[in-house]
Order: sequence, then structure tokens, then C-alpha cells
Amino acid sequence: MSIYALSIFSIAIFRLSLAAESELPVTTCKRNLVDYSACLKHALEEAWPRFVKGLPEFDFPSLDPLFFKYGRIALNTNEIRGEIIVSNATGIGLVNTRFFDVRTHYVNNVFRLEIDAQIPSIFLKGSLKINGTLNAFRLAGEGPFNVTVDDLRGTWGFIGNVVNDTWIIEHFRFAPSLKNLKIYGDNLFEGNKELNNLILIFVNEYWPAIYRPLLPVISNFLDTSLVEFPNKIFSKVFFSKVFP
Ligand SMILES: *[C@@H]1O[C@H](CO)[C@@H](O)[C@H](O)[C@H]1NC(C)=O
Ligand SMILES: *[C@@H]1O[C@H](CO)[C@@H](O)[C@H](O)[C@H]1NC(C)=O
Ligand SMILES: *[C@@H]1O[C@H](CO)[C@@H](O)[C@H](O)[C@H]1NC(C)=O
Ligand SMILES: *[C@@H]1O[C@H](CO)[C@@H](O)[C@H](O)[C@H]1NC(C)=O
Repeated sequence: MSIYALSIFSIAIFRLSLAAESELPVTTCKRNLVDYSACLKHALEEAWPRFVKGLPEFDFPSLDPLFFKYGRIALNTNEIRGEIIVSNATGIGLVNTRFFDVRTHYVNNVFRLEIDAQIPSIFLKGSLKINGTLNAFRLAGEGPFNVTVDDLRGTWGFIGNVVNDTWIIEHFRFAPSLKNLKIYGDNLFEGNKELNNLILIFVNEYWPAIYRPLLPVISNFLDTSLVEFPNKIFSKVFFSKVFP
């Protein structure tokens, strides 16, 4: 083989491997299928364990365990004001996610993917910093915490424009309902152990009344902190190849 032929050959191989790199490891479904939703659901169930492990070629992190370096939630409801900072957190449980339905809508170059899902249980531990007020009480402190949340349900909504055959996800919408919540923490309230325990007992008893008004804030927080993850994948693949 001449040098020239060899270099053409290696360029061809190089191209092939480049193309393979941005190949998403999922079964695709033709949009005109009669059972399109069922096909998408099946493809997602099949691909989920691979997403959960992480996809290094897409710079997509592991989802279980999930590592979370820093997040700040500003609170401003009638009862609670101030901020909560979660740092150095690890989450476990996404591997067991169940999927009930997958839908897509594509109108005027805006693509929406909706996934009805349930996470049976999530365990999250890390460091929590609180600075604010609960009614007349001043709350301030910093310490380790862990929380177990059972039966998270809701629709994951991914929405964004398709530009140049690339889906740019602008929002991740998720407002989960929960069954149970149990939170533990140390030293969250200025080293006052009795107050710390009293407030945790209160929160573990009345969390539904606290959670409901916070849901829009939590939803916004999830949107801004999680939307980059699906984009790590979709910015590197052709939209028409994933959703032919
Ligand atoms: C972060 O968490 C890990 C495991 O929970 C712990 O070993 C480590 O010391 C923590 N790092 C910081 C900076 O808090
Ligand atoms: C707590 O919040 C108040 C008012 O927002 C601020 O002045 C103070 O510096 C904060 N304290 C800490 C420890 O972050
Ligand atoms: C889309 O592709 C065209 C041609 O390659 C380019 O000129 C244009 O800037 C691209 N638009 C965006 C939003 O990337
Ligand atoms: C949760 O945190 C509490 C209080 O710090 C601790 O006693 C407990 O062992 C933790 N649970 C787990 C499973 O890490």
C-alpha cells in the first residue's frame, strides 16, 4: 500500500471513530411509529443503566451515586426566609427509577420530551448551611445532614429549541410529589442541640406543609442546577439521529 493510500485509509478510520464517539448508546424509535411512546419508554428503560453509570465520552457524570458540589436555595415564603446551602453531597437511589410513559411534542422547532417517572427512594447526605428565619425563630448553623425521601413521582419535562439539528435544552421542569421525608442533622442551629432536635422533629412531622409552598423554589433550583446535564449529551449528537 502506498503512503498516500495508507493516509486516506487512516483518515477514513479516524472519521469513523469520530462519528462513533457522538453516537448515543440508545435504541432509536421512528417518530411515525404507531406505538412510538411505548418504543421510547422501552428504549429509555434499556438505556437507563448506562446513563446511571455515566458516559465519560459525553462528560456525563454518574447518576448513582450522584455527586453534588454546591447548591444554594433562597427561601422567601411567609414562614421561612433566608438561604440554604447544600455542599459536598452524595445521592443514592436513581438507579431504581421506574418509567411509566414517555411523550414528545415537536412544534415550530421547539422540542419537548416528557417522562413520567417514579424514584422509589433517594438517600442524600452532605453538608448543610442554614441562615434565615422560621416565623420568629432565627435559624443559623452548619453541619452534616442526611435525608431519605420515598416515592418521588412526577413528570420530567425537557424543553428547548432545535437549531442546526441540535436540541438545545433550555429548561428541565420537575415538581415532584413525595410520600415520606426524614431528615437528620447535627449542629444545624448554632450548636444548640435541643433546638436542633426540636426543629428536626417538627420538620419530619410537618414537612408536607413546609414542602408545598417551597415547591416552586425547589423546582426552579432543580431546573437551573440540572439542565446542564442533558445538554452535555444533546449538544454532541444530531437531533435527527436520536429522534429520527
Ligand atoms: C465530602 O464528603 C466526603 C464523603 O461524605 C467526605 O469524606 C469528605 O471529607 C467531604 N469533604 C469536605 C470538603 O467536606
Ligand atoms: C446570614 O444572613 C444575614 C442577612 O441576610 C447576613 O447579614 C449574615 O452575614 C448571614 N450570616 C452567615 C453566617 O452567612
Ligand atoms: C447554523 O449553521 C449555519 C451554517 O453552518 C451557521 O451559519 C449558523 O451560525 C448556525 N447557527 C447556530 C445558531 O449555531
Ligand atoms: C444520618 O445522620 C444522623 C445524624 O448525623 C446519623 O446519626 C446517621 O447515622 C446518619 N444515617 C446514615 C444512614 O448515614
